[in-house]
Amino acid sequence: MPKDALVHGGSYWLPREGSSFADSTDWLFYGILGLTIFCFVAITIAVVYFTWRYRARPGHTAEKSNAHSDSLEITWTIIPSIICVFIFVWGWQGFSDLQTAPTNVMDVQVTAQKWKWLFKHEGLDIQVGQLHVPVDQPVRTVMRSEDVLHSFFIPAFRIKQDVIPYRYSYTWFKPTEPGVYRMYCAEYCGTGHSMMKTVAVVHGKGEKKCTADMPADAKCCDLKRDPLGEHCSYEQWVGGYQETVIMSKSPAERGEFFYNQLGCKNCHSIDGTKGKGPSFKGMWGASHNTNKGAVVVDENYVRESVLEPQAKLRAGFGPIMPTFKGKLNDEQIGWIIEFFKTLK
Ligand code: CUA
Repeated sequence: MPKDALVHGGSYWLPREGSSFADSTDWLFYGILGLTIFCFVAITIAVVYFTWRYRARPGHTAEKSNAHSDSLEITWTIIPSIICVFIFVWGWQGFSDLQTAPTNVMDVQVTAQKWKWLFKHEGLDIQVGQLHVPVDQPVRTVMRSEDVLHSFFIPAFRIKQDVIPYRYSYTWFKPTEPGVYRMYCAEYCGTGHSMMKTVAVVHGKGEKKCTADMPADAKCCDLKRDPLGEHCSYEQWVGGYQETVIMSKSPAERGEFFYNQLGCKNCHSIDGTKGKGPSFKGMWGASHNTNKGAVVVDENYVRESVLEPQAKLRAGFGPIMPTFKGKLNDEQIGWIIEFFKTLK
């Protein structure tokens, strides 16, 4: 994906506003920031002034005073209390907005797994590695974790929600501007945590299909050229993805596509470098030392390693790979095998 596909912008403090939450969240942030700066400056000035005013010096005796002012004490108790209540109410309103999805939401199923995100969209059979949503449509994410605690974080949308094993968690948002936004995992989840990032694509409305007479850099919908479908509407993306992006490729290319999409590349290189898992280069037909003895890499070994990664552990590598049971069917595993055969 070209770098400029990502939406940049925003202010010094905050990323660009990409959802309906951004406005109120940012006002609260700036409000608290302004208040703390004001208090910090006022208190610092007072401390410096009093230090100078009442410093020890010749001819100056310390003042002794039993002065006590009820009105002063009441004032400095009441005013901060009012400010605290004000901040609480303001924050609580925003929090309850974030917790309460409207009834016309579109659900997206989200799976977090060491170390990738997978999304299941309505109307698309396969899971993909990016989140796709239509602009101005409230979207609810129904999230679960396959292993440990992760956190779903899209800074431009001002949402962050823990994703917890053995239970569902939810968040919702209404994207307000088409574009491609960065998405992260915001909970340390192991050695691959920093690689657990992807993008959220907000599709515009009424986007045009590319035609032959348009220039090559025209902003139009062509899933062959841009599988992310940045300039496609959501309907164009969902409708064309399976056919255009996957089935139009050769089986080995489809395998490569899944290798990139499903996060395999985070741990397995294809150029021979050792990652968290063995490199796939030159693997096909080779003999591997495993904890169950020597194994020749063939169809059965690959299939078993995808579905039950811990069945045979290659020497020198830990039991960290998650299973792809339920995420890849046998036909798709066949495409991955075809891809492996090309990695001589
Ligand atoms: Cu998942 Cu950090």
